[in-house]
Amino acid sequence: MVALESLKVAVIGAGTIGSALARELALAGCEVRATRRRLDRVRDLEELGVHLTSDNVEAVGGADVVFVVLKPHKVVPVLQAVGAALEGKLAVSLAAALDLALLRQAFPGVRWIRAMSNTAIPVRQAFTMYAPSPEVTERDLAVAQAVFGLLGTYEEVEDGYMDALTAMAGSGPAYIYTMLEALIYGGLRVGLPRDLTLRAAAHTAIGASRLLLSSGEHPAVLRDQVVTPGGVTIEGIFALEEGQIRTAFMNAVKAATEKSLVLAEETRRKIRDDLPE
Ligand SMILES: NC(=O)c1ccc[n+]([C@@H]2O[C@H](COP(=O)([O-])OP(=O)(O)OC[C@H]3O[C@@H](n4cnc5c(N)ncnc54)[C@H](OP(=O)(O)O)[C@@H]3O)[C@@H](O)[C@H]2O)c1
Repeated sequence: MVALESLKVAVIGAGTIGSALARELALAGCEVRATRRRLDRVRDLEELGVHLTSDNVEAVGGADVVFVVLKPHKVVPVLQAVGAALEGKLAVSLAAALDLALLRQAFPGVRWIRAMSNTAIPVRQAFTMYAPSPEVTERDLAVAQAVFGLLGTYEEVEDGYMDALTAMAGSGPAYIYTMLEALIYGGLRVGLPRDLTLRAAAHTAIGASRLLLSSGEHPAVLRDQVVTPGGVTIEGIFALEEGQIRTAFMNAVKAATEKSLVLAEETRRKIRDDLPE
């Protein structure tokens, strides 16, 4: 286990994901420098001891590990401006679309890990997927895993899966919220109180997910356990099937994946065109 206390971390791009990451790092005792241009938007991080600056060179220069949490098109120009300060460091990119081949081509002296997390970081329930480049050491991996562990659970995946995972799991909270909203509206439709319906829907989703993970069973098996002959649940299931809910979810992931692949390809091509030969 890596001790995170006093690890020096730079978070480049303290936006939605970056500021949530900086917060967890600071709470874990890391020495955090977080950057963005509009620092007034994240002043609350200072109360946790995060050093805020708009100077990316200063932040990277003083860091053992650099987290890059910029919009994809900004990563290369912003890091090129950082220059030599990044050389020889472990850097974790959370930017969508930028694969390891591109990151290594643009910054060959850096030990890269590509990662994708989600918005559940503030409640430490994010699912972070990561792919290390061959240069990454055992110690680098241990450091990155210790940080990902602060955010929730994590899993190493092949870089080639990342664009599809962006569409399925990165965008996943949006699908789950859509499902939860529909469940809540179902409750309202039959006259249940608004707040109670929201809690009932959310806790049911948490409980069902936990049971799925701990049982190791397929969801179809767990669902079947709830369905009694001529009972209540089968009526609900029948209505869901009539609404083709499973087809809708599968189509959603396919459509989002196709978009993710097109956008990623476009982003990489544009960036490659601007790279020196
Ligand atoms: N949101 C998600 O659910 C999610 C999930 C997984 C991964 N991601 C990935 O994480 C990355 C960040 O996403 P996000 O949603 O957190 O975006 P975001 O809120 O826009 O954060 C990006 C931050 O970068 C800062 N920035 C821009 N130029 C900068 C510069 N020159 N130096 C330092 N900071 C600079 C911006 O702040 P200023 O304008 O104040 O500089 C902004 O706050 C993206 O690549 C995205 O693909 C997002």
